[in-house]
Amino acid sequence: MQYGHFDDKRREYVITDPKTPWPWINYLGTEDFFSLISNTAGGYSFYKDARFRRITRYRYNNVPMDSGGKYFYIKEGKDVWNPSWKPCKTPLDGYECRHGMNYTIIKGIKNELEAKVLYFVPLKTKAEVQRLTLRNQGTKTKIIQVFSFVEWCLWNAATDMENFQRNFSTGEVETEDSVIYHKTEYKERRNHYAFYSVNEPVKGFDTDRETFFGLYNGFDEPQVVLDGTPRNSVAHGWSPIASHCLEVKLAPGQSKDLIFLLGYVESPDEQKWERQNVINKLPAKALIEAFDTEEKVTKAFEQLRAYWDKLLSIFTLQSGEPKLDRMVNIWNQYQCMINFLFSRSASFFESGIGRGMGFRDSNQDLIGFVHQIPERARERILDIASTQFPDGGCYHQYQPLTKKGNNEIGQGFNDDPLWLIIGTISYIKETGDFSLLNEPVPFDNTPGTEVPLFQHLTLSFDHVLNLLGPHGLPLIGRADWNDCLNLNCFSNDPDESFQTTENKTEGSQAESLMIAGQFVLYGREYAGLCLQLGKNGEARRAQRQVYAMTEAIKTYGWDGEWFLRAYDYFGNKIGSKENEEGQIFIESNGWCTMAGIGMEEGMVSKALDAVKKRLDCEHGIVLNNPPYTRYYIEYGEISSYPAGYKENAGIFCHNNPWIIIGETMQGRGDRAWEYFRKICPSYTEAHSDLHKVEPYVYAQMIAGKDAFRPGEAKNSWLTGTAAWNYYAISQYILGIKPDYESLEVNPCIPPDWKGYTVTRKFRGATYHIRVNNPDGRMKGLRSLTVDGEPVQGNRIPLKPAGSVCHVVAEL
Ligand code: BGC
Ligand code: NOJ
Repeated sequence: MQYGHFDDKRREYVITDPKTPWPWINYLGTEDFFSLISNTAGGYSFYKDARFRRITRYRYNNVPMDSGGKYFYIKEGKDVWNPSWKPCKTPLDGYECRHGMNYTIIKGIKNELEAKVLYFVPLKTKAEVQRLTLRNQGTKTKIIQVFSFVEWCLWNAATDMENFQRNFSTGEVETEDSVIYHKTEYKERRNHYAFYSVNEPVKGFDTDRETFFGLYNGFDEPQVVLDGTPRNSVAHGWSPIASHCLEVKLAPGQSKDLIFLLGYVESPDEQKWERQNVINKLPAKALIEAFDTEEKVTKAFEQLRAYWDKLLSIFTLQSGEPKLDRMVNIWNQYQCMINFLFSRSASFFESGIGRGMGFRDSNQDLIGFVHQIPERARERILDIASTQFPDGGCYHQYQPLTKKGNNEIGQGFNDDPLWLIIGTISYIKETGDFSLLNEPVPFDNTPGTEVPLFQHLTLSFDHVLNLLGPHGLPLIGRADWNDCLNLNCFSNDPDESFQTTENKTEGSQAESLMIAGQFVLYGREYAGLCLQLGKNGEARRAQRQVYAMTEAIKTYGWDGEWFLRAYDYFGNKIGSKENEEGQIFIESNGWCTMAGIGMEEGMVSKALDAVKKRLDCEHGIVLNNPPYTRYYIEYGEISSYPAGYKENAGIFCHNNPWIIIGETMQGRGDRAWEYFRKICPSYTEAHSDLHKVEPYVYAQMIAGKDAFRPGEAKNSWLTGTAAWNYYAISQYILGIKPDYESLEVNPCIPPDWKGYTVTRKFRGATYHIRVNNPDGRMKGLRSLTVDGEPVQGNRIPLKPAGSVCHVVAEL
């Protein structure tokens, strides 16, 4: 069952039934002012950091789910309704929500009145525009009342939810003309306030929540709206809100726009006040003036659309398969940008409080968005590297507001440092900008400790070598990519965190085959970079170490039919046929096959066949099999999850592309494509009722074959799945791969594909690449011509910036 459809021309997903199986959301904002908005107008706004600068309040875990947001109440006679259907849930005569590229349009129709709200954050603006368009479709004049609504958050989203003894006494607002200002704590230590305005005189307003709703009413029956009488309440403590009341008269056929602005202002100390205890409103007024007419808003909206035209013009595909094209050209790239902006912090599954930017996560995200905004990728790499320590270890997370490492979680995830190598190299291959490597980067953000970025990469490489276990394989530390494989944790205490507890480390033999495979792959990349830089000695050293690791994997990491997953604290195998549960895992088999380890000996094809046989199912590839059915103290969190969910045999979409890429190494384009399609959201749209979450973005996890309800997805939007699947489809299936001095064309496709065309902008030139497959092959170029000239091999030499180049490749 579907709840809407794609509108590819406008790059929108159109939801036509408000009762989606879960809130289907979108993100507004491109730089520092952000909002989350659901298809029924739920959600919230924040400035830069969803924890420390929360502008409007939101209650996760509410009943009903997704209550609270940016609501408009319309009152006509006795009828009260919302264009977003919720919260009143008054039956509508028409409803549509269009989620587009950083904007959302929600339209409701009732009694021949159409109310349409466009929500977006203009470029370079610390404010959200809400343009409400009202149109009388009837034959009689209408007089209606409009009430807006947002609820302020007292800035710190964590204490806002717990410290009520203080919170109920601190709230402060001001009102002037049609603007409501929220200034809690501005007097003491804050230099910021928020405001909510409308570009018309109001009939009244409310800023005290209980006055607006009535003490016993929910979002669906605000007393003020039911009565049609704003109270002009001024909040003193308790819970400040902002609601405008406007009266609108519409002749038949007439329409009217009202422009609301939800903004954020920061003032330098000397400009904070107009007079004692009265805030300086000039910056807010300037912001309001920038968007106070229909023309200004239309222009700002066009600029946002042009910004996305540009971002999405760098890689475009025409495959003749609309479900694939819309993912590659629109939604997968959009999701990659959203992950760049939010890492794993704020979604409808991440509260915005617990986790900042992940070291591992943000590096991986880079491989998905670097072609879109290389300048910001550059800055991101430097920020991430600044949280590394002199021994190559690094903080697992950092806060976006301060950019400082998060002490609560600390370090010790031994795969983390290696991701910096791939993040950095992806940037250089995209841009050719080697100067990044000379940028001075501190350790742990401490001024005076700067060394060139290149040295951080060397330290990352050596960090693995300095922490080898008894088989010459990398020690796992607290965990590797799989946060839940906690082999030194040994926790019997529910109040301990699996991620930060290490009750047993002395003499640990816990080694990871995932990190081993990763070291081979990224160690080779590191060696390749060294060669580019003329550091031949260092390149040879790296190659020797990569060779040694490869041998160690073949000797101690091979279980006969697939790669082992790990050795535990005691040196016992994990992911072996000798185990009772968890005999085979996806991660090590993904990494070792991507790295081509034991290709000649047949290990790659055997491992991939074992994955197909034991891990594949209707909805994707599960993480491990058989799932754990009891708690193993020596394995940690992985065995805490019920079978079929999350890291315990869920379909972790993030690591499916590792197998997809592994299959392309082996030249099996049919299997790669089959796996790709299984988890690709546009292909699961038809069973949205089972899948539950948005059909336009990837979810972190789909319940696996051992779950109670296989196929049900969770944790949409913020996941490494976006970057990895984009990387797999664009660079390994379609096979268009940036390199230091060329653009590689090396497709691996199913035999029944006749061909496709990719337009790739790369280093200033435009490449139109036509791939033909007349003989139904899967891999291997028979010929390559560049502007009519045959070229040996599969690399397009770089063309001068500004040029347009036509490439034909034949399989
Ligand atoms: C989740 C992981 C997550 C980790 C750290 C675990 O409970 O299963 O996916 O990365 O917590 O937040
Ligand atoms: C989610 C985390 O964000 C990511 O870093 C991790 O690799 C996966 N969970 C798997 O545990």
